[in-house]
Amino acid sequence: MCSFVNFNINGSHYKLPVIYGTFYEKAINISKLRESTGLITFDPGLKNTGITKSSISFIDGEKGELLYRGYPIEQIINQCSFIETSYLILNGELPNTAQLKSFSEKVKKFSFIHHKDINKILDNIPVFYHPMGILSSLTYILDAFMNSIQEEDLYLHLLAKLPILAALTYRKRMGLPPVCADPYLDYTSNLLKMFFSVPNKSYEPNPIISDTLNKILILHADHEQNCSTTTVRLLGSVHVGLFSSISAGMSALWGKLHGGANQAVIEMLEDILKSGGNIKKWIEKAKNKKDPFRLMGFGHRIYKNFDPRAKIAKKVAENVIQKLGISDPILKLAKNVEKKALQDSYFLEKKLYPNIDFYSGIIYQAIGIPKDMFTVMFALGRLPGWMAHWKEMKLNKEPIGRPRQVYTGYKKRNIK
Ligand code: CMC
Repeated sequence: MCSFVNFNINGSHYKLPVIYGTFYEKAINISKLRESTGLITFDPGLKNTGITKSSISFIDGEKGELLYRGYPIEQIINQCSFIETSYLILNGELPNTAQLKSFSEKVKKFSFIHHKDINKILDNIPVFYHPMGILSSLTYILDAFMNSIQEEDLYLHLLAKLPILAALTYRKRMGLPPVCADPYLDYTSNLLKMFFSVPNKSYEPNPIISDTLNKILILHADHEQNCSTTTVRLLGSVHVGLFSSISAGMSALWGKLHGGANQAVIEMLEDILKSGGNIKKWIEKAKNKKDPFRLMGFGHRIYKNFDPRAKIAKKVAENVIQKLGISDPILKLAKNVEKKALQDSYFLEKKLYPNIDFYSGIIYQAIGIPKDMFTVMFALGRLPGWMAHWKEMKLNKEPIGRPRQVYTGYKKRNIK
């Protein structure tokens, strides 16, 4: 294995160190490049730039594999709960029985918020405002109540409190009064109760729905250096607090090309149905370079093969729809869109496969989550990943994230 790359510029010889990852991903360390050569690198969209060394998750985009702390997603989904996965992602190892008990109990203990103050704020946000904007704002504001908390507890407070904020956002929209967390329920059953219970009626969480929610949250738990995670790391690097950094991550996630795609996929599938179900016409539209339309839920920056999360999400969607006895024309349509797209040379040549967002909205709809809350559910799932990256960035003592640019504006000039 070479440990340096050698190169010449205008007759001068230079060498730069090469660093290796666990799976022999090679990276040229260019941190001293400008100092020695006067050059910077140019990489719009950071397509080919490693911004950190990380040990949280790993994607093999060519093989279509995803590991959380070394464990394949296919094993985690069948053997772990979301709360165990959160522990794994935050701490690096799966918890033993005692560790899991203490972790879960602390999350339950911290499952409260300053309802009076938060409700006053919520009452002043227009009810029609998008839930992602509300959740991000409330998370940011909650920072103000967290200043005396020890860092290790801060992660558990956020894991406990984000579902409460999400549920409040939903209930405000539905005109329902807030409900407190139920300490006798597991994480996902409690989340469902905080969303869906209604006054004067006892709430029994449906185990099929709880299990489905568990799975979809796990599928989202981490995904290395995506846009929202990088946002969280960048904010943390300039010493922005955890809650505010996560709030910024949520704003990044909201984008339609990132986590906002789950809502956009269902809206697109509904449009296809409404317009007569002519899939070929929509595929042609997505291929037309003069048309800004893209087939939502297709393509990924890293996966150039099946997104393993999409494969699992498809099975989870089929399973929950069948077990709940729902008749959903959207699932059938989605499968047909996938089939037709994957027979088309445009999608094959560009290696555009369904991503996690292609089937996740169908799952959310089946368990009663409204369309504009889909990305909120993505945020609840991604939370352990965001927090682990914020924590890792601090432990690594990473420098502030501050890229360079190639300036193309005016030369220095004077005001006449
Ligand atoms: N439909 C049609 N064409 C596409 C699509 C699509 N969904 N995705 C990429 N392409 C084309 C694109 O037009 C470009 O073509 P050309 O080379 O001829 O200019 C080529 O494929 C490469 O696309 P890109 O935009 O350079 O690739 P990227 O890696 O920068 O973008 C992406 C990745 C996910 C933003 C993109 O595939 C996309 O816009 N997909 C639809 C939105 C979506 O589903 N987003 C969810 C991503 S997964 C969840 C998450 O982690 O956030």
